Amino acid sequence: MALSSSTLCHQNLTKPYYISFHKQPHILSHLQFQTPPKTLTLDPKFTITGGCKLSGHVPISGSKNSALSILAATLCCSGTSKLHGVPNLSDTRTMASILRSLGAEIEACNGEMWINADGVGSVEPCPEDIGKIRGGFFVIGPLLARFGEAVVALPGGCDIGTRPVDLYIRGLRALGAIVELGDGKVRAQAANGRGLVGGRFRLDHPSVGATETLMMAACMADGVTVLSNVAKEPEVIDLARFLTGSGACVEGAGSDTLYIKGKNQLHGSECIVPPDRIEAGTFMLAAAITRSSISMSPVIPSHVACLIDKLLAAGCKITCAHDTLEVSAVPDDVGDNLQGFDVRTCPFPGFPTDLQPQTMVLLTTCNGSSIVEETVFENRMGHVRELQKLGARIQVCGSTAVICGKEKGRVGCRRSN
Ligand code: UD1
Repeated sequence: MALSSSTLCHQNLTKPYYISFHKQPHILSHLQFQTPPKTLTLDPKFTITGGCKLSGHVPISGSKNSALSILAATLCCSGTSKLHGVPNLSDTRTMASILRSLGAEIEACNGEMWINADGVGSVEPCPEDIGKIRGGFFVIGPLLARFGEAVVALPGGCDIGTRPVDLYIRGLRALGAIVELGDGKVRAQAANGRGLVGGRFRLDHPSVGATETLMMAACMADGVTVLSNVAKEPEVIDLARFLTGSGACVEGAGSDTLYIKGKNQLHGSECIVPPDRIEAGTFMLAAAITRSSISMSPVIPSHVACLIDKLLAAGCKITCAHDTLEVSAVPDDVGDNLQGFDVRTCPFPGFPTDLQPQTMVLLTTCNGSSIVEETVFENRMGHVRELQKLGARIQVCGSTAVICGKEKGRVGCRRSN
């Protein structure tokens, strides 16, 4: 039975955004269950009956995290920016709402978004919206760069650790801003009363958001900025590409040092949001977990290289042709036993923390014991308790989990009463 979008609409889908954990309803319509699922309720929660094989082709959406930072960057630009492939998710809708709260005009249709920030007249975005997503806080960089001041509430985001903003604050101070924190808001002002000035700043940790925020701020600062120990994630490169296309001068994206020469003005430009590596990785893992075969596109294989290595080592078969990737874990194709493996999450090009929970699910179904170490966020083991309720044998000590997989003749993840 094909699970279509119309099927989903009949499932009491009162709050569509609940689907967007990762991610869109249209994706489900491209996956087929070989045996019909007995239960599927979206209300606004998922009720899933397992034991089915998956098959089919999944179109991968534009990257959520790239879209969020590029949307923030449009605040630096005069005229209209046009983005293609913006995923229709609660996070991107919230980001659009944040830009509108500042006075930007936005139109969106079928994954395309036109943003014109010429009419922005406020430097204080809606605090409720900023409180919903981590990416909302990124606007502090463009606002400060363009207007010399910004008042931005502390950000929200997933509950996976304390997630401070100290690197953003110290970095902005290095660019000549006076920054104060009080009443749940960060107030920043260019110290000389005019604008930011280029400077040097070394991040203690290669934070993705701090790198992106400081990059945007430096693009309109007076002089040259050197940021070191920065994040090398593909989303940082996507942002640099958009900024460069808008007239900025950014060098070094993808390495650990960024060199940025400030410009007085940036102009709107057009860009395609690259595919979401976390969404692709999630479907690769779905194929492995269900011992199925799924293809997906577009995928940039180097963005998921770490996961490809792990899945190959486990015994999956992976083929890549152009931008299409196929993962097969069908027993007839690869044998019945996938082997467990160890994972240590790290900044890119290391294993992505955003794929850690999904990977742990796979490991409960593999042979032997596996170790998962989370090094990016201090509190990203919340899913373990839920997996244990399903019978998973996982022991956690601090940020390390030991997963007991399948024993001979037994399934590792048993349903408990
Ligand atoms: C981004 C991604 C998120 C991903 C994460 C790591 C977005 C919107 N979200 O989040 O999906 O999981 O990168 O790949 O792009 N830190 C500090 N001080 C700071 C900033 C960060 O100590 O000022 C710490 C954080 O607490 C965390 C670590 O740095 O332990 C990494 O966080 P960071 O790279 O900043 O993640 P985000 O940009 O929030």
